[in-house]
Formats: sequence, structure tokens, C-alpha cells
Amino acid sequence: MITVFLYYDDVPRGLAWLTHTLGARELTRRATSGLMTYAEVELAGLPLVLTDRTDPAAGGTPARFQFTLDGVEPLYQRALAAGAQVVATLAVDPTGRPAFTVADPGGYHWTFVGSASTDDESSPAADDEIGSLTADGTSPIDRLGRLTDLATPFAVRVLATLRVPDLIEQGVTDLVDLATACAANRDALGRLLRYLAHRGVLTEANPDVFALTEVGRLLCERGAAGQRGWLDLDGLGARMDLAYPGLLHSVRTGEPAYATVHGRTFWAELDAHPGHRRYFDELMMSQQHLTAPQVAELYDWCDVAHVYDVGGGSGALLTQLLSSHPHLRGTLVDRPGAARAAGERIAASGLADRADTVAGDFFGALPTGGDVYVVSRALTDWNDRDATTILRRCAEAAGDRGRVLIVEVLPTEPFMPHLSPFDLQMLVVVGGRERGLTDFESIAGRAGLAVAQVLRGRDGLTLIECVRADRSPVAVDAAVEADSCVSS
Ligand SMILES: C[S@@+](CC[C@H](N)C(=O)[O-])C[C@H]1O[C@@H](n2cnc3c(N)ncnc32)[C@H](O)[C@@H]1O
Repeated sequence: MITVFLYYDDVPRGLAWLTHTLGARELTRRATSGLMTYAEVELAGLPLVLTDRTDPAAGGTPARFQFTLDGVEPLYQRALAAGAQVVATLAVDPTGRPAFTVADPGGYHWTFVGSASTDDESSPAADDEIGSLTADGTSPIDRLGRLTDLATPFAVRVLATLRVPDLIEQGVTDLVDLATACAANRDALGRLLRYLAHRGVLTEANPDVFALTEVGRLLCERGAAGQRGWLDLDGLGARMDLAYPGLLHSVRTGEPAYATVHGRTFWAELDAHPGHRRYFDELMMSQQHLTAPQVAELYDWCDVAHVYDVGGGSGALLTQLLSSHPHLRGTLVDRPGAARAAGERIAASGLADRADTVAGDFFGALPTGGDVYVVSRALTDWNDRDATTILRRCAEAAGDRGRVLIVEVLPTEPFMPHLSPFDLQMLVVVGGRERGLTDFESIAGRAGLAVAQVLRGRDGLTLIECVRADRSPVAVDAAVEADSCVSS
């Protein structure tokens, strides 16, 4: 048997690194005058002795150790999560095997090489292929495991719900203090935090002391794009995600599963919970912040006197349109709770004299007399049949003189809805779907509308202007001759 001796200036640090970064198993430790100067661990079957550099036998320069393992990728992820200093990232080495190297606090380099060649011609028979490695060092069974793992998504959400990232950022880094601060069971919290260190959300540089990785920092309250709020298990975002257990129902029936899982439809949920409604409106507003100014600028609002924003939600778009075009008047139509909240926001913007709100249902008759009926990002919430009905109601209200303006942020071209989970999310939460331009043109056609023009903004923003397909040429001339306007 060979035993390798490692000499460290700081044995506890070396021990912590080996156990937490590489998963070495501690066998024994000894202290001299209260200071740990000796420890034994086992790593991949090899016994290692860590001892103080003052040992006369030390005298060594830093050395490199190379281990051959069955699957190096999990170890690489673990080392990354623990914040290891990476000397060589995981890549295929000249022998065709995945390998990486990390350095420890003593300056030793640790290289781990996968035992299987990635492009071995004599690759195993199909039955064995689940264990074979690809260039990134993973096997199909590893990848299936990652695709189906539920521990990680829930562990991250629990971390966010308990606000552990915020606590760590405020300097509460010790497990005992963290457990007290978030009223959690210390043992269970420790298991959660260590698992998330393994998954790269946290690091555990010293035993039971945690820090945030770049990923973990995103889970702080002030993290970019509000992920903490979305992942909070008490919030609306998590409720939307938790509709996924109903995906089987959606796939069998083509219907949303939100009510199946949560007991009422998504829209009824917003009606029943003003807090959820507010969160949803804020989410929409954060997107309108990017798109509404473009809508105000791209479309020619000069000959429009009165705009209806159908399913107008937060009122952010209508507010922008009225602020940019002082000649415009506007009406927002939405469910009662939404219309009420939008009315308050519009009033707070000082635009109440030119805007009003109507509690209404876009599947029923809409108020007539508008020049433009905007439907912004509302059709994606519905299947083709319902989206067609909404457009038909707008067409009926617009009459011969009015126009219908579909505003959507379209996915990238070529249109491939399967490239993001959004299409499935729409299905399972509200029964909606992602659509490309031709899909919108097609439902507009079924609603009796003809596409007059398509305007494109930044980041997929698309405006599809429609008029009634059966409108008379006289009405077209009259609409074009409307008054000129001033924009700000
Ligand atoms: C995805 S949001 C879009 C909101 C807004 N147009 C925007 O672009 O930010 C869809 C809106 O449709 C509204 N909505 C849902 N069902 C409705 C109905 N039956 N009648 C009117 N509005 C409805 C929702 O309340 C919500 O405000």
C-alpha cells in the first residue's frame, strides 16, 4: 500500500479543502498544543496524510497528483462549487479522456482524469452506453439524472424563500446563525446548504461557513431581474411553476392545468389575491418599461384620437402612449381588479383627464368608437380559438373606420417555440401558446381582419396592424384623412 504525505503550512485549511472541495473522507486528526498538525483522509481509495510543513521530512516543493476516476464531471462541479482554484478546466486531454486540474492551499496540483476515452472506436455495446462519457465528461445517465432531478429546483426555491442569500450577503455566514435567522432546523438547513454548495449556488470554504457564488448572488432581493421574487415558494411565480405537475393533464387535453393543481384558474387566482395581481402587473410593467416607448414611437399615432387598450393590465402601455402623444385619449379594458389598479396608476401619472378604465371581458362586446384597439401580449395567453374570439371582438368594436393593433414580443426567427420552456409554461398555466408572425396573421384572418402593416422594434417587439377585411374603401379614405397631431 502506498501512503502519500502532504505538507501544509495550515493543515486545517488543507483538510477543509480536501474534504469540501474534493469530497475526501476524513479518517483521523491530531492536534499539538491545540493546533491541528496532522490528519488522515481517504480520496478515491488512496490514503493521504496531511501534516505540518515544520515536519523535518517535508522539505518538498509542491507536487502534482493525478487520479483516474470513472466520472470526473461531478467532481469538477463539486470543486467549482467549492470555489476551487482551477488550473485546467474540464476538457478532453490528448488521450481523449476528460480531465481537469485544481490547486489546493498548499500549492499542490490535483489532476483528475476520466477512465473512459471519449472517442473510443471500440465503444461499449448499446446496453453499456449509458455509462460512457462524452466530451464534457458526462454520460447519458448523468444527463438524464440532471434533466429529471427535482431536488435542485426545490432546494434553490427553499433557499430563496428563506432568504438565505440575503442573510449571507449581510454577513450571516455561519450555519448556526443562519438557522437562527431564518428559523430553520440547523441539521436540515446544513444539508440543504451543502447540497447547494455541491450544485454551485454556494461555497463552503470552511466547515459550516457559507458564501455566495455568482449564481447564489442572483437570489438576493436586489439580484438582477427579480429571480428571488419569482422563486419564492409563497409567491405567484412559484405557483405558476408548481402548475407543472398538471402538465400530463395539459398534454392529454390541450387545456391549462392551473385550476387542476391550484383549484381555480390563473386569472381567478389574480382576482382573488390582490397581492398576486400586483406582482403580475409589476412583472408586466418591467417588460413594458422596455417595449412601451417603442410602441409609442414606432406606430403612427398622429391620426388616432382615441385608443382602447384591450386587456391593458397595469396601464403602463396606455400611460406611455398618452404621455408621448398629448392629443391622445385612451381607455383601458381589463378584469375588474386590474382595471381598478390601472385606474389608480394612471391617475397617479396625472393623466386621468385623458384616460379612463372599463371593467370588462374581452370575450364579450367591447366599447365601440375607438380609432385603434391595441391588444398587447394578451393573445399568447390563449389557444387559437380564444385568441381568434378576442380579435373578433376588437374587430367588431373597431368597425369600418377603426384598426386593431396586435403588440407582441415574438420569439427569435426562425420561429421555434421549443427552444425555451415559455411555450409549455403558457400551455400549463393559462392554456396559451407562443406564436410566430404567420400564426398571428392566420388568427387575425380567422377573426375577419386583414394585416395592413407589420412594424418591427428591438428584441422581437412586433406590431401587427389589422383592419377589417370587409371594410369599405370609403372608410379607408376617411380614416387616412383624420386630423394631424403633435407628439412629445
Ligand atoms: C399578459 S397580460 C398583458 C397585459 C398588458 N396588455 C401588457 O402588455 O402588459 C394579459 C392581460 O389580459 C387580462 N385578461 C385576462 N382575461 C381577460 C378577460 N376575460 N377580459 C379582459 N382582460 C382579461 C389580464 O388581466 C391581463 O392584464
